[in-house]
Amino acid sequence: MTGPFAWQAAGPMLLVEFGGTEKTLRSGPSYQVGRDPRSDIVIDDIRVSWNHAVLRAERGAWFAEDCGSTNGTFVASRRIDRFEITGDCVLHFGSTDGPAMSCSLYRWERTDWPSVDRRPSAVMRAPARALRIGRATDNDIVLDDLGVSRHHAELRNVGDGRYTIVDLDSSNGTFLNGARVIFTSPVTEHDIIGIGPATFRLVGGELRQFIDSGDVSLIAQDLTVRLGDRVLLDRVSFPIGERSLVAVIGPSGAGKTTLLRALTGMAPATEGAVLYDHRDLYSHYAELRHRIGLVPQEDVIYPHLTPRRALGYAAELRFPGDTSDEERSVRVQEVLDELKLNQTTKDRPEPVADTPAAALSGGEKKRVNIALELLTKPSVLFLDEPTSSLDVELKEDSAISANRAGSRCTGPCAANPSATGRESSSSRPATASTWPAG
Ligand SMILES: Nc1ncnc2c1ncn2[C@@H]1O[C@H](COP(=O)(O)OP(=O)(O)OP(=O)(O)O)[C@@H](O)[C@H]1O
Ligand SMILES: [Mg+2]
Repeated sequence: MTGPFAWQAAGPMLLVEFGGTEKTLRSGPSYQVGRDPRSDIVIDDIRVSWNHAVLRAERGAWFAEDCGSTNGTFVASRRIDRFEITGDCVLHFGSTDGPAMSCSLYRWERTDWPSVDRRPSAVMRAPARALRIGRATDNDIVLDDLGVSRHHAELRNVGDGRYTIVDLDSSNGTFLNGARVIFTSPVTEHDIIGIGPATFRLVGGELRQFIDSGDVSLIAQDLTVRLGDRVLLDRVSFPIGERSLVAVIGPSGAGKTTLLRALTGMAPATEGAVLYDHRDLYSHYAELRHRIGLVPQEDVIYPHLTPRRALGYAAELRFPGDTSDEERSVRVQEVLDELKLNQTTKDRPEPVADTPAAALSGGEKKRVNIALELLTKPSVLFLDEPTSSLDVELKEDSAISANRAGSRCTGPCAANPSATGRESSSSRPATASTWPAG
């Protein structure tokens, strides 16, 4: 993906938070702030001018510029015309106590900025002796996720302010800074513990927990893929914001599949990095690969298997050995229902779920492939040519179902609801797709 197909961002990106919403701004365009509803950041406050200010990057530096507003733009009570954003700061519009926007820079090297510190879903005292984590309800911390073993890991206080994490022979692993823990490992305040969808960090005698429910950003940074003398991807950079849908469009051979394989870590780029929630995907791959789903371009189900059996086998392979048949079949049923694979009609007395794959249409197989990936509720889902065999109705249904079935959380959907003209789904992963040229 070179030349006209490269989407490149030169310089750092600006993360702004206003009214509870975060936006990631890449350098290049100017971002308008004001009361005008067409602004990039709309501030509906009478003290704020219609075109109040602009955020833009110039030669790698970000600036906030007042556009001659009536009541001014302020940083730390000082009225500014033009202000260089060099670190974390808060801008006030219309008055020193007017609507506030916090700004921070995405520095590429800032890979040690884990989500757990920014948005802990729970904070508890570090254990005096030991604290057990797992799926069963008798644990001190219960993680209700089929990827987690019943008794998964234990955080132990070994005295003198030191702690260790012990993996209790879990199926899918306990991770420290992205690497799998073999039996036990010391834990310091600089370390991140990963268990299923949860991340933990010890800070000042507290244990902070963050549950990855899909509220994660993904950043491609200068991805380059070389194959011999050929450059298949040439310094491609872009952010994918939290809860968003991104479509990559390009002709056959443009490098869409190559990009997806680099973004998911399946075939890492020769140069560059992918940041998953500010963590380097390639060096934390053992842990983070479980949070990413990839629906490949080709069909993956064996022709003689029915989708229900295929999903059942996939569940056995991916979920811990201590999950019951019932737990697995409930999840399989959920996914089949979400993707409408269980339905029967007058013309189709046998549901897709119970028809051997060899007898399914291209679109039905595509939905089965999506179902297979959604089984483990990935936070980010990539689909390679997701709609190539689907009609318009099914394209909409699949996009919505993919969003609805995959996530662990509830809340409004930012995954392209306006494109389908339907209401937000209640739960979804962020989604990136590549679309065929034709
Ligand atoms: N393993 C490989 N060996 C040699 N060349 C390769 C390999 N994989 C991809 N390429 C080449 O890299 C380029 C990009 O391929 P890629 O599969 O990413 O394209 P694409 O945009 O996904 O195309 P399509 O829409 O046809 O799926 C193509 O020119 C292809 O021939
Ligand atoms: Mg392709």
